[in-house]
Amino acid sequence: MAYVVTEACIKCKHTDCVEVCPVDCFHEGPNFLVINPDECIDCGLCVPECPEEAIFSEDELTENLIPFIEINEELSEVWPVIDEIKDSLPAAEKYSKIKDKLHLLER
Ligand code: SF4
Ligand code: F3S
Repeated sequence: MAYVVTEACIKCKHTDCVEVCPVDCFHEGPNFLVINPDECIDCGLCVPECPEEAIFSEDELTENLIPFIEINEELSEVWPVIDEIKDSLPAAEKYSKIKDKLHLLER
């Protein structure tokens, strides 16, 4: 089992989560982060850090967010590690209110 970054992160990417991860298992894409499920130690420290509430344990995902298990698996293999906080994306505030964002995910 692992923790999973989901839809709410897309186009926001606040990166507060990466600061607390003890094993540096976040990977960064253009407008989204993912967690490497093979490295995540299930500590849960990242969950309260995300202002968008985008991170969930794999077994707590609602039906609509299940596809993000595979998205995290797949993209963590190709995107580089991020272990330092940086500025949120410029349109983060606007996209924080938008629910349906999967089609906006840049790979
Ligand atoms: Fe890192 Fe812990 Fe979050 Fe997994 S649950 S991504 S180990 S902070
Ligand atoms: Fe994304 Fe939340 Fe981290 S918006 S980058 S999962 S703090």
